[in-house]
Amino acid sequence: MALLEIKNLHVALEDGTEIVKGVDLSVDLNQKHAIMGPNGSGKSSLAYALMGHPAYQVSEGQIFFDGDDVTELAADERAQRGLFLAFQYPHAIPGVTVTSFLRSAINAIRKARNGGEDDPIPIPEFRTELLAAMERLKVPRELASRYLNDGFSGGEKKRVEILQMALLKPRIAILDETDSGLDIDALRIVANGVTDLVGPDMGALVITHYQRILNYVKPDFVHVLVGGRIVAEGGPELAHKLEAEGYEAFTPVAVGGEA
Ligand SMILES: Nc1ncnc2c1ncn2[C@@H]1O[C@H](COP(=O)(O)OP(=O)(O)OP(=O)(O)O)[C@@H](O)[C@H]1O
Ligand SMILES: [Mg+2]
Repeated sequence: MALLEIKNLHVALEDGTEIVKGVDLSVDLNQKHAIMGPNGSGKSSLAYALMGHPAYQVSEGQIFFDGDDVTELAADERAQRGLFLAFQYPHAIPGVTVTSFLRSAINAIRKARNGGEDDPIPIPEFRTELLAAMERLKVPRELASRYLNDGFSGGEKKRVEILQMALLKPRIAILDETDSGLDIDALRIVANGVTDLVGPDMGALVITHYQRILNYVKPDFVHVLVGGRIVAEGGPELAHKLEAEGYEAFTPVAVGGEA
């Protein structure tokens, strides 16, 4: 079994509307997966459901992480086990600086891994790690002391998401359109940041619209989500085909399903 196993996952909104309609997917350590698909096909809803967002209910199917059924676990418990989501639209938290947010997040995970007992990261160690990661990801120093995402530019928010990933060291990272809004240099830095982390300790699921980021984060597998279903799967060549031809060939009518 892969580290993250998704079986026949259906996701519905609070009003019962089904958005994700039976997705099977496995993501293991040392693997890069890409999910592509048109606007509104359910990519973010799938990501939210994987992370345990309460507004995205699993109405059928299961999510396994490291062999355990985590379908009913709260988001923080999933994070403690090593699941991470970089949001498409990161929220601002006025009053909480980037530094204190990151330290709290690290300490929450350390506490969980220490059998529920506090095990705070020593401040000098935290500072060293933070500064090294910021340097590597070219996150401007001054962002660290500002309130999280408060007034950040689109690209700054995305970089801080990746900074968070680099420090939390998840086992499976889900990146929801982390590439959108990044300038060319930032895209390369962020993509290299992801590529560096994928290995024996981490696997990644990259949701994107563009082949562009996949030139840097070379996916092992590409999955095409249309109308809440995976309608095609393949290797990196599939992303090139989509870029050239669009999603028309995969619309529900063309694949023979109902809308
Ligand atoms: N909280 C919500 N309330 C109402 N509708 C929602 C909610 N979340 C998602 N939807 C609807 O579900 C559908 C899928 O949305 P989702 O954000 O998952 O798409 P997506 O594939 O991520 O699209 P994009 O490429 O534009 O980011 C859309 O029609 C959207 O309007
Ligand atoms: Mg989305």
